[in-house]
Amino acid sequence: MPPPSLADPAVARDPYPLYRRLRDAHPLLHDEAFGAWLLSRYVDVRAALSDPRLVAPPPGRTFAHLEEATHDAHRALVSPALQGRALAALKAGVDRTAYVLARRLVRHQEADLVEEFCHWLPAAAVVAALGLPHADTARVTAWCRTGLTHLGGAPADLDAFLRPHLARRRAHPGDDLLSVLCTARAGGRPLSDEAVTGLVATLLGAGGEATDRALAALLANLLDHPAQLALVRARPALADAAWAESLRRDPAVHIVLRRALAPVATSGGTIPAGATVACLVGSAGRDATRFADPDRYDVFRAAPGQLAFGAGRHRCLGVQLARLTARSGLYALLEALPAVRWAPGFRPAPEGLLTRSPAAVRVSLH
Ligand code: HEM
Repeated sequence: MPPPSLADPAVARDPYPLYRRLRDAHPLLHDEAFGAWLLSRYVDVRAALSDPRLVAPPPGRTFAHLEEATHDAHRALVSPALQGRALAALKAGVDRTAYVLARRLVRHQEADLVEEFCHWLPAAAVVAALGLPHADTARVTAWCRTGLTHLGGAPADLDAFLRPHLARRRAHPGDDLLSVLCTARAGGRPLSDEAVTGLVATLLGAGGEATDRALAALLANLLDHPAQLALVRARPALADAAWAESLRRDPAVHIVLRRALAPVATSGGTIPAGATVACLVGSAGRDATRFADPDRYDVFRAAPGQLAFGAGRHRCLGVQLARLTARSGLYALLEALPAVRWAPGFRPAPEGLLTRSPAAVRVSLH
């Protein structure tokens, strides 16, 4: 039998058989073809995500690449704008967008909810958080979908789009996240336009694409389980549990990459210094030693405790905004589409290795 590898094309179609094999027999494996050491068990992935000896691999200038004092300072800057009162202030706008997007579907017999809904709502939520004009959501959505922040920094057209907004916020700051970034001071000096644009690009990429994919997976899981869908419809308070369970079973970010600064012990051996490490978040969520019957989707699962948002010092800053977006989107769809179900003959096909979700969620609406 050839050694297991993430580079095997069959894995992109369905990684779960490989994940099971890794957890059972190869808890630490050097995957030569993929170019990384694979960690697949919940306990190891959780420890690795929080371990300061494992850092984001170069090249890159994203948030995840920052460490220590600069990282603390940037988190302290951004996080207040994504929680508490600031988040509550965003709710009405996100609800309104979700309502409009869902109502637009009503006149159709069939629709692809990824194309018509998931691509739009998360981008609109990040646009609202930044305080950018609602009318620019379509342009921003296009940037979110190009995976623009993998290496950090921003493409020239996003830079040109943002410049006038930055100048305006610097002169007349408001309450939005862009104003917070424009008026912030690092070491006594304001952040440069380039630094603010880079942060915005990170937020658009992290927020837009990941939430888009996670929302598609949530809808697919509920459509696959009509009894649980009916329960969520009857008891909307279950929406958060449905979201958390979907993120455990089918996380949008399947793999988080790290570079080892020093040797690190794991349950399957020691990662050597200098190694690239693939933390298999998608595998951790299906680990039977952590979750009973892990392949089952169950909105009543007690304490899913998943790693879909990372762990430790780099844990996602957008957890609450993403949850608000998902909740608002789900309520709007269930309200507007009382008979929603899979389109005849359609089966969702999840795609992607590092980030993963169904490419389409095709439904009958009446
Ligand atoms: C369901 C949606 C989302 C998922 C699955 C997700 C997932 C993740 C993961 C796994 C990480 C950790 C990366 C690492 O350890 O290297 C992360 C970090 C981050 N996320 Fe999210 N994210 C989501 C939504 C958002 C949203 C809506 C925002 C903001 C608008 C956001 C902003 C960030 C930022 C700024 C970081 C970097 C934190 C740091 O390095 O300290 N994310 N996210």
